[in-house]
Amino acid sequence: MTDFLSGLAISPPDPLLGIMSAFRADPRENKFDLGVGVYRDETGSTPVLEAVKTAERHITQRQATKAYEGPRGNAGFCEAIETLVFGAQSEARSEERVVSVTSPGGCGAIFLAMTLAARTSPKGRIWVSDPSWPNHLKVAAAAGRTALGYPYMAPDGTLDFPRMMDALRQATPGDIVIFQGPCHNPSGIDPSEEQWAYLGDFCERQGLFPLLDVAYHGFAHGLEEDMAGIRAFLAACRETMVAYSCSKNFGLYRERTGCFLVQTEAPRDAQAVASHLADIARAVYSMPPAHGAAIVETILASEELTALWHKELTSMRSRIRDLRRNLADALKSATGMDGFEALANQTGMFSLLPLQGPITDMLRVQSAVYLPASGRINIAGLTQEGIAPLVGQLTPYLQASLAQQ
Ligand code: LMR
Repeated sequence: MTDFLSGLAISPPDPLLGIMSAFRADPRENKFDLGVGVYRDETGSTPVLEAVKTAERHITQRQATKAYEGPRGNAGFCEAIETLVFGAQSEARSEERVVSVTSPGGCGAIFLAMTLAARTSPKGRIWVSDPSWPNHLKVAAAAGRTALGYPYMAPDGTLDFPRMMDALRQATPGDIVIFQGPCHNPSGIDPSEEQWAYLGDFCERQGLFPLLDVAYHGFAHGLEEDMAGIRAFLAACRETMVAYSCSKNFGLYRERTGCFLVQTEAPRDAQAVASHLADIARAVYSMPPAHGAAIVETILASEELTALWHKELTSMRSRIRDLRRNLADALKSATGMDGFEALANQTGMFSLLPLQGPITDMLRVQSAVYLPASGRINIAGLTQEGIAPLVGQLTPYLQASLAQQ
């Protein structure tokens, strides 16, 4: 008889995915899900985008095989994402210094990045903003890397650039630094274009290997506007990795659609990187999934579908902006406190409320409000109608928490 599993302790739930399952299991009728980052419309559902549905119809009609695509996945998709990230006119692309591969979501791209970096700089540590997406730490640990935090947020809800730079000056050559943007998760705070350019130059001079985690492209100000900072960074730092997710901006969450891009110093390096990415992926998922990438490729290859996607993305972005404004106003008037204006100016799905740890447990148990212990809320999951009842539930907890500070 074997006995491998009876001593196995139950692994603690993931901070975000655990909330998702607890919310689903809660039988109370009036409950609020502020947890995992999924966009919802005014009816509270996450519909499939029309551009996606149309692309899927085209794919079903013309798809002739399900044979493997190969290690890079969908080349047309990769090139379309290169254009979104680098722009149509890119020196690095025309010099063949860019590698791109399809990845299983943005998370798969981050895994490729950290594993690649472990091969290029085995002693390199990983610097992650504090606060950050908790999964950055999990992926860093899975790739056998030590993660260190750099401060990010000032008490007034803006970027604390001086403290961030003080910490990053401790980074040593070969270290990897993860920057998120646009729409930092969980704070909704982004560097300005000048700060992005400064960060790129800083990494170049310090010999750091940056990873730009781009998971909310188009959710801040617009597709071009949101890439200005990223492109300024790429212009300043020649060796840069980019993890691009299509989960949110194409609404393809469950299709696991992402792209991992690397800008290299020389074309020869690009070929070497491509060979390592194929090797890393082969040991984990062999080859990337195809369906989501085919959808994005189909949309971006058609002027009509691209225009439809732009329209749908603009409507998601405007809705989030309106929700932010109304939530900030409602919190201000319910609590009588001024500190919520930053919520309206931050961008993307997430912001942080001054609610932490045990208070978030009480909120869940007593008021059926689900949010992670960090106090992060998914604003894109709210409805205009739901704001007043939610604020009613949150107010006593916010007042208690702010009175303690
Ligand atoms: C989130 O932060 O909620 C999303 O990025 C979903 C996830 O996988 O954690």
